[in-house]
Amino acid sequence: MKKRIAIFASGSGSNAQKIMEHFKYSEDAEVALVLANVSDAYVLQRADNFEIPSHVFDKNEFFNTDDVLAMLQNLSIDLIVLAGFLWLVPKNLLEAYPNRIINIHPALLPKFGGKGMYGDRVHKAVMEAKETEHGITIHYVNEKFDDGEVIQQAKFKVEPTDTLEMIKFKGQQLEHIHYPKVIEQLVKKID
Ligand code: GAR
Repeated sequence: MKKRIAIFASGSGSNAQKIMEHFKYSEDAEVALVLANVSDAYVLQRADNFEIPSHVFDKNEFFNTDDVLAMLQNLSIDLIVLAGFLWLVPKNLLEAYPNRIINIHPALLPKFGGKGMYGDRVHKAVMEAKETEHGITIHYVNEKFDDGEVIQQAKFKVEPTDTLEMIKFKGQQLEHIHYPKVIEQLVKKID
């Protein structure tokens, strides 16, 4: 039986796109659902393009009901993948999916993580700190922002001439290469 992945996202969904492409013809797993907390997030269009069902929820549904959990369980979801999803994950999901919820963060955690650290804010902070290396982290999700056990990191050198756009691009390239592969390794380990 193929393992079933749910992707949670809030925005463009370029990582979601790479994951949906990677698993389109996979024998190990499939993306069975895309969930978003923003009704016009471009990730929803991307899910449509792959004919993958999607669902939009609001704060009340996510934090005060078991509706999202019920949907995941009804669809027999095995692994939850956060790809640019900017809310904390509530306890009901953490308890139902122990070590089965992962996130990607555009920095070398524990540096440049935590509440409010997302998107360009991360890269700006890296430039202001004059870091000579930067990268990405894929990690398990817990009740805090960007805090769970690290699964994989990938680094690149920050050149003195690099602009914010350049380091952002280098990071995105690494995310797009590594995230689908890490997900594949994880689904292969699920019984
Ligand atoms: C990615 O760079 C991801 O690492 C980041 O949001 C971006 C989403 O891009 N996530 C965080 O900052 C989480 N703290 P995408 O929508 O194009 O995949």
